[in-house]
Amino acid sequence: MNPLKHVAIIMDGNGRWGLKYKNSRNAGHRAGLNTVEKIIKETIKNNIKFLTLYAFSTENWKRPKKEINFLFNLLENFLKDKIEELNKQKIKLKIIGKKNFSSKLNNLLNLSEKKTSKNKRLQINLALNYGSKTELIFAFKELAKNKESINEKNLKKYLQTKDIPDPDILIRTGNTKRLSNFLLWQVAYSEIFFEKKLWPDFNEKDYYKIIKKYMSIKRNFGKI
Ligand code: FPP
Repeated sequence: MNPLKHVAIIMDGNGRWGLKYKNSRNAGHRAGLNTVEKIIKETIKNNIKFLTLYAFSTENWKRPKKEINFLFNLLENFLKDKIEELNKQKIKLKIIGKKNFSSKLNNLLNLSEKKTSKNKRLQINLALNYGSKTELIFAFKELAKNKESINEKNLKKYLQTKDIPDPDILIRTGNTKRLSNFLLWQVAYSEIFFEKKLWPDFNEKDYYKIIKKYMSIKRNFGKI
């Protein structure tokens, strides 16, 4: 059995799902949030300690303002409604990415992180305004500024995932095979699963199937 500490997910396909079933991309984002809740429950059930969810990339700012506003409203309402429950379930919320949103949202994010900071059952890293290239450039700049030698150990100190293990599993839904600037350094040895289903259609069973498949893989990390 492979140890399974960290699952990272690119939750792709909301827009297409929304257009297909409700004639609205935003309806797909709303439906995607239900999947988020299901997957959190299944993650806890499987005793996985870290779940990283790609919710908004540095490139997503290129979307229409209306869709961006919808997404952040959805997030704001989700946190307002659910942060107590997440806290009760001993979930720690951490934002990765640059928090440069409205002061209202920044405050809510900071508060949610602070409130849940001591929890140990599951850490959810929510990637918001996150881009792996930006993260890496920042890390290299820090190394140069501090005149530190460039090696893996030193670099990791400046990554937003510095305190946690690299993902064992990376899942991308939505029938597209790309990494979209997500955790490029951290997924060097992750097992990658590309899933045909759109994110709102992805469910606990699909997730569990991936976990089981992962368990059966012989991970070599370059050895034989
Ligand atoms: C990608 O699908 C999805 C996003 C950019 C947003 C992800 C957001 C959610 C799952 C719901 C909100 C989550 C939280 C935590 C509030 P896409 O829109 O690129 O889909 P497409 O490829 O079909 O266009």
